[in-house]
Amino acid sequence: MKYKIGLVGFGTVGQGFVEILAEKGAEFKEKYGMEVEVVAISDPIKGSVYAEEGLNLNKVLELKGDLSAYPNCVKGWDSIKTITATNADVIVEVTPTNIKTGEPGLTHIRAALNNNKHTITTNKGPVALAYSELAALSLAKGVNFRFEGTVMAGTPSLNVGLEALAGIGIKEIRGILNGTTNYILTNMEQGTPYSDALSEAQKLGYAEAKPDADVEGWDALAKVVILGNVVMGGNLKVEDIERQGITGLTVQDIETAKSEGKCYKLIGKVWREGNQVKGSVEPQKLNKSDLLAQVGGVRNAITFVTDELNEVTITGPGAGRRETGFAIISDLINLHRKQ
Ligand code: HSE
Repeated sequence: MKYKIGLVGFGTVGQGFVEILAEKGAEFKEKYGMEVEVVAISDPIKGSVYAEEGLNLNKVLELKGDLSAYPNCVKGWDSIKTITATNADVIVEVTPTNIKTGEPGLTHIRAALNNNKHTITTNKGPVALAYSELAALSLAKGVNFRFEGTVMAGTPSLNVGLEALAGIGIKEIRGILNGTTNYILTNMEQGTPYSDALSEAQKLGYAEAKPDADVEGWDALAKVVILGNVVMGGNLKVEDIERQGITGLTVQDIETAKSEGKCYKLIGKVWREGNQVKGSVEPQKLNKSDLLAQVGGVRNAITFVTDELNEVTITGPGAGRRETGFAIISDLINLHRKQ
């Protein structure tokens, strides 16, 4: 089976996805019978290219983000034209997250689904703000809407809750859901100043476009809403969640915790309370013996508190170029398996 991808956004994640595809596309075809071609890429800064018969991905990557030099193709189509007027049958939406408006991703995803195109995104804003609307729209249109990379990048989280743990009875989910803040806290414990750790996280491609989204807890909040609504069937709104980031923590707080054999982690949590699902994001001082306390650097971790297995914890990278790019590959393979 052949899939034609229209890639909307060509930043860190989009480039990571194309890199993996360029390297492993032949293997995916052989192993899974899944042939993937990228026919269009549209980005307001890097430029836009469209070739009905598919773009040469090695050539795209050689251009190092300047698509204007790509030869012999249609150029300059904006995101909506790329979604609606190309021959792409799967739209991969990877523009930067906006947790307040969801835009431009929300408009892109609505347009893709309305045009009967399968849609994959790693963009948290639209899923946190409009999951039930978008899920209903994809169902009505008979296409897939997948977004594994919105929580913990390529480390499986949503699929685990929805598929592997289906039927188990999930009472609570808690975890380290933001890589940047975990990277900062881990480095501060080792004596690196806050601002140095933050700029390193930015350089490594972990941080959001505006780092406030990470350090004030907005990114973790979006993931809490997604987990609560998608995995626990809640009806959480962004404004329902109590949120505290890591900017109130001082070097002294971190040193004191260390001297007590403890450490601070930014913990996102969803739980059932009566008929409702509730959520919160806050720094918590954990004992070093706590599994989550042992998760350092950009790693994330998620613990499902369940009826049948008690606690199930998964840990892995929660941000990064190929780490998030891989989430799109895994969504594509799952989409393919459902055809
Ligand atoms: N800025 C996010 C993080 C990226 O640091 O976890 C992945 O959502």
